[in-house]
Amino acid sequence: MAKVVIQLTNLNDRRTPIDTIYGNIQGLKPSQIKQLQRLYRQRLPQNSFTTFEFAQRLALISQEIEESVCAYINRRGQVFRVGVGTPHQSRIPPQELPRYGETRLSGIRCVVTSLQPNPSSGAEPIGNADLTAMAMQRLDALIWCQVNQEARIGKVYLAHLLPQANPSPWYILPAQSLDAVAKQDFLDLVSGLEEEFRREFSAQAVDLQTDRVILVGLQTPKLSDSAFAANLAELALLVESAGGQVLHSFSQRREQPHPQTVVGEGKIQEIALKAQSEGANLIVFDRELSPGQIRNLENLIGVRISDRTEVILDIFAQRARSAAGKLQVELAQLAYRLPRLTGRGEQLSRLGGGIGTRGPGETKLETDRRVIQKRITHLQQQVNQLQAQRSRVRQQRLDQAIPTMAIVGYTNAGKSTLLNALTKSDVYSADQLFATLDPTTRKLFLPNHTTLLLTDTVGFIHELPPALVNAFRATLEEVTSAHALLHVVDSSHPHWETHLRSVEHILAQMPVGPSLLVFNKIDRAPDLTSHRARYPQALFVSATDRQGLDLLLERLGHLTDPSFSNLPLSASV
Ligand code: GTP
Repeated sequence: MAKVVIQLTNLNDRRTPIDTIYGNIQGLKPSQIKQLQRLYRQRLPQNSFTTFEFAQRLALISQEIEESVCAYINRRGQVFRVGVGTPHQSRIPPQELPRYGETRLSGIRCVVTSLQPNPSSGAEPIGNADLTAMAMQRLDALIWCQVNQEARIGKVYLAHLLPQANPSPWYILPAQSLDAVAKQDFLDLVSGLEEEFRREFSAQAVDLQTDRVILVGLQTPKLSDSAFAANLAELALLVESAGGQVLHSFSQRREQPHPQTVVGEGKIQEIALKAQSEGANLIVFDRELSPGQIRNLENLIGVRISDRTEVILDIFAQRARSAAGKLQVELAQLAYRLPRLTGRGEQLSRLGGGIGTRGPGETKLETDRRVIQKRITHLQQQVNQLQAQRSRVRQQRLDQAIPTMAIVGYTNAGKSTLLNALTKSDVYSADQLFATLDPTTRKLFLPNHTTLLLTDTVGFIHELPPALVNAFRATLEEVTSAHALLHVVDSSHPHWETHLRSVEHILAQMPVGPSLLVFNKIDRAPDLTSHRARYPQALFVSATDRQGLDLLLERLGHLTDPSFSNLPLSASV
């Protein structure tokens, strides 16, 4: 029979935060808990690291309970957190930390007792996990007191953060006596350090409008090394397109994502440390995260967490220009954010550019679900109306019997540049992913004195999040209404074939006409042998150097031929 365990709340356990003892208190006697709680009543001089008496008192308790004890002290000299165990075990979760920034420390120092014997020569007296905890909390200082057999403090090590995280983000001073440490001016050290942080920060000329981003990729056995590397490289480009600056990328191999945190605990610590030492304000994962995962990760790392979908949405939000584009983006953003609202990022609104926080809508991101739900319904109605209008315009276009062609292709393939080159128009083109959002139609006059309507479309991307496919239905419908497609591929991209296939894969799910395959950017493709061998019917052009355009125009001329349906289009597979 299954054993039912009922956990009863201890009604006598009415501890308020001010006498909560953190860390592992199991097995401690009530009298020992009381001794620990009494530490909260201690007040230290503001300018001392610790007093002799306070540290000795910690040492006595420590020896009695046979565990390290940590006391966290604020700049007013108040003890506001007492923990049993190492600084790593009793650390303050990010959401409970006071606000701090790149130029400031958290205003908290930690006095810790250690019962460990002296380290063997050469080894650091303070372990990496504890130093990492100091960095993650941006502690003013860690005061590491070694307790000997007689419950007296022997050596004391002071550790603090360094403004330049290279080669190490912290510094441990040589051992000193407790007396010597107690006499030193603590405020002198922190004000000097913060002054250095400020200097370093202004020397780096950090742009406060730019998100400083760390990428995290998870490689499961499904993904080959090269596919994984390509995904991460693409994520970096997406973040840069969204206006972020990628500071560092982390990757981890796992059989499958950790259900709560995607990556494992050790990796999370590495990420958190890097985020603190480099002043990152956004962590972007290479996969869609659940609302729970975002919450857990933000609690553990203390920096806003985002994912690939949100970055793509952000790019759309910045680029949408037409009324229809803006509506669709806002709709997709709201639908994405709605389940992720609860308590997210409230205390994480630090400096930064705002990836994932922008939107084209007039309403700022309301936290009220009902308001958002109403807005979604309203937007959906508007989108439907616009779609009806658009299909009328499309129908008129088809009725005019002017052949239409949609330029499709992977994002950044050079679609807009090719449209410009062919029509000498000025559609926005830039070396960023998703430079185009709204379909733009231009008239193209062909050498045989006929015309063709050429439409630029939003770039494709593999694993386009389903929510976006729906939201951009109208944009994609533009493709389905065209007589034929011009499929542009960046021939110089190392993964051109994957790009080509992912576009084909999405198009295969839609009722589209024949497509003409065009390899662009041949001016910078190192070798085109395999392109030619695999796709013998394709055309090869350079939109920027205007190479191969004559042949392309000639081929397009066939579109205006009455025997249009027999076009010699390449069947791009
Ligand atoms: P999205 O709107 O993001 O889907 O991009 P797109 O496919 O419309 O690409 P776009 O025309 O914006 O071009 C992307 C970048 O590639 C720009 O920096 C262009 O200057 C560059 N580019 C386009 N065609 C060529 C080419 O033939 N040769 C070279 N070297 N660069 C090109």
